[in-house]
Amino acid sequence: MSIPIYTYDAVIVGSGLAGSAAARELKQAGKNVAVITKLHPLRSHSGAAQGGINAALSDVDSIELHEFDTVKGADYLADQDAVELMCQKAPETIRWAERMGAAFSRTDDGKIAQRPFGGQSSPRACFAKDRTGLTLLQTIYEQALRVGVDFIDEWYAADIIYEDGKVSGVVAFNIRNQEKAIFNAKAVMFATGGYARAFKISSNAHANTGDGLSIVARHGLPLEDMEFVQFHPSGLSGSGILISEAARGEGGKLLNSEGERFMERYAPNKLELASRDVVARAIINEIREGRGVGPRKDAVYIDLTHLGKEKIMERLPELRDLAITFLGLDMIKEPILISATAHYSMGGIPVDIDGHVRKNNDELVEGFYAAGECACVSVHGANRLGANSVLEALLFGRHVGQSMVNDIETLYLREAEQSDADTMITEMERILTNNGKETVPGLRNELQQSMTDNAGVFRTEETLSKQVEIVKALRKRFENIRIDDKSKIFNTDLQEAIELGHMLDYALFIVESALARKESRGAHYREDFTTRDDEAFMKHTMAYMDANGEISLDYMAVTPGKFEPQERTY
Ligand code: FUM
Repeated sequence: MSIPIYTYDAVIVGSGLAGSAAARELKQAGKNVAVITKLHPLRSHSGAAQGGINAALSDVDSIELHEFDTVKGADYLADQDAVELMCQKAPETIRWAERMGAAFSRTDDGKIAQRPFGGQSSPRACFAKDRTGLTLLQTIYEQALRVGVDFIDEWYAADIIYEDGKVSGVVAFNIRNQEKAIFNAKAVMFATGGYARAFKISSNAHANTGDGLSIVARHGLPLEDMEFVQFHPSGLSGSGILISEAARGEGGKLLNSEGERFMERYAPNKLELASRDVVARAIINEIREGRGVGPRKDAVYIDLTHLGKEKIMERLPELRDLAITFLGLDMIKEPILISATAHYSMGGIPVDIDGHVRKNNDELVEGFYAAGECACVSVHGANRLGANSVLEALLFGRHVGQSMVNDIETLYLREAEQSDADTMITEMERILTNNGKETVPGLRNELQQSMTDNAGVFRTEETLSKQVEIVKALRKRFENIRIDDKSKIFNTDLQEAIELGHMLDYALFIVESALARKESRGAHYREDFTTRDDEAFMKHTMAYMDANGEISLDYMAVTPGKFEPQERTY
């Protein structure tokens, strides 16, 4: 039976802030655009960003300070041309979002309220209570619908059509019934989100399985800086569910089992508002040295009681609900238990400043774009500052959408063929008919636990080498899986098996890249190489996977700018 082929000017995979914002730009410019998403758009992970979106708006702040904080926070691995673009366009992005309908929290005199976040010289995070991402996502989705973007939701994009250095479409199936389709287009954009679900303790949605990255890598295209995974300091103990940095921004204090405000020892100037990598390491260090709290002694306290009920209810109502629901602790009355949680992917699909996907250090892929967390542009370098991710997603989503509008007239449509769907069909058939002994939840759990244990906040040659072997062994065992549901209707067993295959592939990129980076920089901390080594490692990792699944590493220069590398202290 032949597979339908639908033709568009542009197809976008992922409907979070980056994907929806890009789609709106394309549609506004009269282009025929579809957004394919495995979720309902309003369940995209952008909606989970709680605390804020950065822009230098106030008299005591400046664009240059925003740039400096971002580059310093990135431990000087960020590309400074991209940082400049982001920080310069941030104020306009906030005003645009507001005009689109986003209701930001206000100061008493009616200005957009801004709260302090980690690593910032000045309060810079604009916010909508503690639901900033959701507010923005609802706004942009509505505006994309309003101009007539075609959202194709609950479809799983399983492959790209890539030939002769050009991408010309996406191959997908309908999660509801396994109907298959080819979406042929002049331009394709990935906005497929991050990859922190490879870790057991994670703030990420279950859907953040990094599909886009592995799809790209399986075509021999590179992934950049995959070793840089951000561990957010405050995940709810046990689950890792996000307790926004807004809690520290509003004045939350971190305490150990001795009641000590331990950040005084690690970051005497910025305390709890040092950058995330510094605070996350301090927390894990306290726990490792026996000053943890909670039933398993694997957490620290964040104390917000001094803020009082009124402020907590006004500024942090969602966080309070989460702590009550998942820990039974009310932050108005008592400290709550938190620890570091895998949160954000600094690495991803390498792109130039206008979102064109890189084929290697020197060449671009024709007709292929990426933006948001799945992309590495790289504005975050080795460590992202809080409230820069929502900014990046929204701002680069729009920017890359405009770059697609500019390019589209010069791109031709390579007509898709039935055989373009072969890889997806073979993969689905293999999973549905395989009768091995391994289960998907079993392998996934082993992957996530071992990644947290061996490639987490602290890493060494020994733990990373061990993890390389574990991931390789899990990949071998993955060939021997069996799923119980063989049906066509909402077969989530099938989807989760495909997702696990992606997680196993990109997990190997994380650990191989981390093993080779023999220094500590930003979120990548090597206990056997505790300092930053600019001479050897002021460069981006570019990792490639061959047809046998083996990873090879190359490196790409960092784009310098006005800020010279300095020692990073807070
Ligand atoms: O802590 C937070 O609210 C998360 C925001 C971010 O990751 O930018």
